Amino acid sequence: MKTLKDFDVRNKRVLVRCDFNVPLSEKGEILDDFRIRQTLPTIEYLIKKGAKLLLMSHLGRPDGKAIEAFSLKPVQKRLEELLGQKITLLENLRFDPREEQNDESFARELAQKGDIYINDAFGVCHRAHASVVSIPKFLPSGAGLLLEKEVDCLIRLSNNPEKPLVAIMGGAKVETKVKFIDKISKIADAVLIGGLLQKELKAKNIKLKYPQKIIEPLDEVSGGKDIGPETIDLFKKRISQARTIFFNGALGLIEQKEFSHGTEEILKAIVQSKAFTVVGGGDMTQVISRLGLSDKFSHVSTGGGAMLAFLSGEKLPGLEVLK
Ligand code: 3PG
Repeated sequence: MKTLKDFDVRNKRVLVRCDFNVPLSEKGEILDDFRIRQTLPTIEYLIKKGAKLLLMSHLGRPDGKAIEAFSLKPVQKRLEELLGQKITLLENLRFDPREEQNDESFARELAQKGDIYINDAFGVCHRAHASVVSIPKFLPSGAGLLLEKEVDCLIRLSNNPEKPLVAIMGGAKVETKVKFIDKISKIADAVLIGGLLQKELKAKNIKLKYPQKIIEPLDEVSGGKDIGPETIDLFKKRISQARTIFFNGALGLIEQKEFSHGTEEILKAIVQSKAFTVVGGGDMTQVISRLGLSDKFSHVSTGGGAMLAFLSGEKLPGLEVLK
């Protein structure tokens, strides 16, 4: 896979696909700018090397319609604050239905705006959309610094991880996670799961391949809105013994402060361990940023679904096309 540093970018128009799909408040304020900040090394490198930059991204799921609430303007403003200079950012790619349809004419239109294409949007690499998989048909293409780092860290986690490997899985929608849980259970010493997953597994009568590896919560708070104190102690014990830790998906309803205690305690315990630590998924980066722990893990992934797909052994279309 070619990467950013393989290109001579001076005076070249470089199209960078980012994943600026950040959580916004109802008033349109950015609730967590982690994904934006993680793209800065690529952007700053290109600026320093004298490239003419054009950034593009999607935001939310506007379904092919230009809806103001999904505008990338707040992202552009934040980027300009962080960089201290003006930046050119195309409007939300998903305002055009052809993006998600992976329409070649749309990819060609976008490709005409650049001389080189850089993909730095790990979070969307599991989507075969025009700006992810079709622009590389028309332009010399490579991975940005963030994409390269994401892939390196996840390969390190899945190939020969130092043992004991402890995986912690939260969130809901167990059907979307079974493949991953089975895959990680094969190499993990223990897989600690959150209360919602535990309930869904039972209710839907889902059988896992390695049930002996699964460690379930012992107690809960408010009918399952968070894990309880006994579970926190049990999980902390396993975390303290691990040499590699992977944590995806919150263990409670973290959008409500009172139910984010379990997730916060587990994150703090992970930070204190001496293990190689990889965390990410869903709203987790918001909690991590709030606790001021963003730089305390070996790696915080910007990918949710993309990270699980990668670690499940699936081929991500956005990465395949760069090979
Ligand atoms: C994400 O947030 O996981 C990515 O930006 C992809 O978004 P999507 O699930 O709407 O395709």
